[in-house]
Amino acid sequence: MTIEEIAKKMVTKGKGILAADESTGTMEKRLKSVNVECTEKNRLHFRETLFSSSSMKTCISGVILFDETLRQTSSSGISITELIKKNGSIPGIKVDKGAKLLAGSDGEKVTEGLDGLRERMEEYYKLGARFAKWRAVYTISNKHPSEQCINSNAHALARYAALVQEAKMVPIVEPEVLMDGDHTIDKCYEVTSKVLAECYKQLAIHKVNLAGTVLKPNMILPGTDCKDKASTEEIAKKTLECLKKNVPSNVPGVAFLSGGQSELEATKNLNAINKINDTKMNFTFSYGRALQQSALKTWAKSMKEINTIQEVFNHRAKMNGASTEAKWSEKLEKSSAA
Ligand code: 13P
Repeated sequence: MTIEEIAKKMVTKGKGILAADESTGTMEKRLKSVNVECTEKNRLHFRETLFSSSSMKTCISGVILFDETLRQTSSSGISITELIKKNGSIPGIKVDKGAKLLAGSDGEKVTEGLDGLRERMEEYYKLGARFAKWRAVYTISNKHPSEQCINSNAHALARYAALVQEAKMVPIVEPEVLMDGDHTIDKCYEVTSKVLAECYKQLAIHKVNLAGTVLKPNMILPGTDCKDKASTEEIAKKTLECLKKNVPSNVPGVAFLSGGQSELEATKNLNAINKINDTKMNFTFSYGRALQQSALKTWAKSMKEINTIQEVFNHRAKMNGASTEAKWSEKLEKSSAA
């Protein structure tokens, strides 16, 4: 498949991406929250349970993996990448090395991982990955994000994207404006616009073929501590407007991150965005927490109840799949859960 075909497949209507690429450190936090020891065996068991679910065929277009998982073998003896491919889904790989303190700034971060990336991409391709992910993070405060943070992260994202395409894979470009803080929804709109504009400027400088990319942005939301809450309709309207203004039309699709929204909020908001989508771009999900939270809790209670865990995951995947076509409703949520 060409990179344009892979990108299109990743954002197919009715399906979305499962972001299961938590680093071992992040996985430690997730497993600790449900009182499970963070061992390699447990990480594999949880992930394999999800990857063998029936909704993988119907609702999941791709799975983002962490380096460890890409190299693991499932209990049935086939590799994890084979297990994902068997279900018609595409394996992907997180290639950034995390957000590190940006020298010269007061606490902002820049994502690292460019050194040796060309060689790593070659290996990841051989291991079966066909797309990659790199996440940049931006915090909002009265002085942040700074121009330094916006520019250096956009530059790194563009160099990453160019290297990934050189390896014949699709880069997911993920600039995440964090929800932390008491900023308004309009402040989030303003910052996200600046961040996206700089990313597309750098992607053009680095000659990245946008038709072979997928954008993974935050939705336009008020900060977690903002006293002015926003309605689903306002979130959808402002998110769509911001993306229409800042994302070139040859980008085939957008796969949102959930970024700390609850499972239900993430589903509702995606549905509302798709209800008013009047662009040629497809809007789907690339959720981590908002796809896995309930399944993780169920798994932690009883790891042997594979069917029950998978039912919980299937339900969430189905609801988000419906949202990509604006077909989700409270009624569907309840009837499917029952
Ligand atoms: P969340 O959906 O939990 O924000 O995770 C998505 C992701 O891949 C973050 O990089």
